[in-house]
Amino acid sequence: MRHLLSTADLSRDDALRVLDVSEDMADVATRQVKKLPTLRGTTVVNLFYEDSTRTRISFEAAAKRLSADVINFAAKGSSVSKGESLKDTAQTLAAMGADGIVIRHPSSGAPRVLADSGWVEAGIVNAGDGTHEHPTQALLDAFTMRRRVHGAASRGRDLDGLEVMIVGDILHSRVARSNAWLLRTLGARVTVVAPPTLLPVDLSRLGVAVRYDLDDAIREVRPDVVMMLRIQQERMNEAFFPNAREYAGSWGLGAARFASLPPETIVMHPGPMNRGLEISDEAADSPRSTVRDQVSNGVAVRMAVLYLTLAGDREDSL
Ligand code: NCD
Repeated sequence: MRHLLSTADLSRDDALRVLDVSEDMADVATRQVKKLPTLRGTTVVNLFYEDSTRTRISFEAAAKRLSADVINFAAKGSSVSKGESLKDTAQTLAAMGADGIVIRHPSSGAPRVLADSGWVEAGIVNAGDGTHEHPTQALLDAFTMRRRVHGAASRGRDLDGLEVMIVGDILHSRVARSNAWLLRTLGARVTVVAPPTLLPVDLSRLGVAVRYDLDDAIREVRPDVVMMLRIQQERMNEAFFPNAREYAGSWGLGAARFASLPPETIVMHPGPMNRGLEISDEAADSPRSTVRDQVSNGVAVRMAVLYLTLAGDREDSL
């Protein structure tokens, strides 16, 4: 696999390969020495043009556990804030010998531009581009679901028949997009639930069912997984819903609504959470919440992605 830009073009076999290698990487994390020599002598640059806590740290931990050299490049405080173009920055990184570039960028499509440009030879991993895609988040979510469903017998299995409900700010969510593509490829059924103002116009391309009333949807779909999304206020320049209280009441996972879920349903959230808005403490901190598993699984999944893009056979692009 040459790059990881999107989950839309991942085949079922490709996706299962990433998830199975992630299982191997997760095993490494249980050892006393949590490190593999696989990427020794390789340089990975984390090129972050947008704020991030867990994704950047997670990629850094993943690269270090594979013994790569890691350079963290935050656009704030760099020449990017003086107007340097992506092309010039990329060429600077190439001149320094970057083998892999993990990029987060506010413009949808920036990682694809970098991969197709010929400016750099490096393997490109999309760590979130605008409102477009966030493939490693979707892979770690699928990994987390697979482990909850199949436990120790996860290897080689898909998510056939799993009912996944994705709730909230679908419009601005690259997590929702990447999850919709990947979950369908893995055989899950996806329902999105949101106010009409927070749904994208090109929804039909996602191949998901759409509902507007969360209580009805929970009662009728009886989801195995409820994934709550953050209200992305930083991407909103107009009023998408009347006020926070109304949003929480209609589309948030409050204590009473959480209690109405089927007893086995798990609750996911990619973080960062707006507690009291899209999710309550009762839901976020319950044993059925996978929020912390998602973070620790993220390191294993990113190790797998870095391994598959930077070591060994890099011929085919995913
Ligand atoms: C997500 C993102 O940045 O797209 N967060 C993350 O990577 N953990 C979701 C979000 O910001 O709401």
